[in-house]
Amino acid sequence: MTAAPDPLTTTAAPPTTAELTSRFERAFGRLPDGVWQAPGRVNLIGEHTDYNEGFVLPFAIDKTARVAVGVRADSTIRLLSTYGDQGMFTTDVQGLDASAAKGWTKYPLGVMWALQQRGIAVPGLDLLLDSNVPLGAGLSSSHAIECAVVSALNELTGAGLAAEEMVLATQQAENDFVGAPTGIMDQSASLRGSKDHAVFLDCRDQSVRLVPFETEPAGLVMLVIDTKVSHSHADGGYASRRASCELGAEVLGVKALRDVQVADLEEASGLLDELTFRRVRHVVTENDRVLQTVDLLASEGPASIGALLDASHVSMRDDFEISCPELDLAVDTSRMHGAIGARMTGGGFGGAAIALTPVGSEQQVRNAVEQAFSDAGFKAPDIFTVAPAAGAMRIS
Ligand code: GLA
Repeated sequence: MTAAPDPLTTTAAPPTTAELTSRFERAFGRLPDGVWQAPGRVNLIGEHTDYNEGFVLPFAIDKTARVAVGVRADSTIRLLSTYGDQGMFTTDVQGLDASAAKGWTKYPLGVMWALQQRGIAVPGLDLLLDSNVPLGAGLSSSHAIECAVVSALNELTGAGLAAEEMVLATQQAENDFVGAPTGIMDQSASLRGSKDHAVFLDCRDQSVRLVPFETEPAGLVMLVIDTKVSHSHADGGYASRRASCELGAEVLGVKALRDVQVADLEEASGLLDELTFRRVRHVVTENDRVLQTVDLLASEGPASIGALLDASHVSMRDDFEISCPELDLAVDTSRMHGAIGARMTGGGFGGAAIALTPVGSEQQVRNAVEQAFSDAGFKAPDIFTVAPAAGAMRIS
């Protein structure tokens, strides 16, 4: 196999679908059978609750991965991305091997492998990837690729999997092929997201309620502050948090931490060691904050959820210990300069923070965060706005 480096984050305008199609034709000497796209996500609230069978409230964003795919008559797989000057990655659909996959290619290959595990005959194919989801920013760039690929293959193979099954297939790809022991939040947001809505997902039974979430009518913007601190959930931090949660559930005698309520925490503190207790307290209180956020959004709208976002960050910083100085600075500075609520989003140890900000304070928050990062000697952050966008779909 030939190696392919990771795609680079780019600020250039993404190619149009027609450009992508002609790029595919130039590279592979034929037209694709179709083009599919899937978005990255921002998690509004509910962090590290998904693998505890709890609640999450993410939304799909208007930054997407797109794949142009053409089925081949043989079993060859050819993968190419629009990024940088990297070559074609060629392999065979039989005997897919995670250790031979390089860079971003492990995501499409992982999805093919997971579909094979389900008895689905995956054909040889040519695939061209383009993505404008920033990499390593905690916005689920990898899941966006996986969800675009699973949507394409679901259609091209005639497998007809429901969204819930595609979610589980991409989770298996992440867990067992990529090697990141992640939950189901990101792919659920990417596959099941909807414009102007957050996805209220019960991770125990995968039931979804779309919750209206529009910032503009409330005079707000959702800022994303990408700290440029890169992270990987295949590193030990994520897995060790997951292990603490599993230990906590075992000691407390429940199937998952979902089954522990805030009122149970006092008793739990006497049963758990100090560290495990703090990990458990984060998950239990975070589940409760998700439910409160859903209620408040319905009764009072987005301007009412700031305190819950703040409390979520404090809990991740102090109890779950997955923040970092850059994320804390982004959150604190945003709050100090007008954001009504802010928190790190995603798995942590780097990535992005979100700051729910009145339109009139947006520039002030941006300036203050940039200045604070510069004063602290941190890399310049990338700051942009997001709004809930549509989930995965075929676009050509
Ligand atoms: C990553 C994982 C998700 C979830 C979050 C933390 O994004 O992919 O499954 O666990 O971290 O909430």
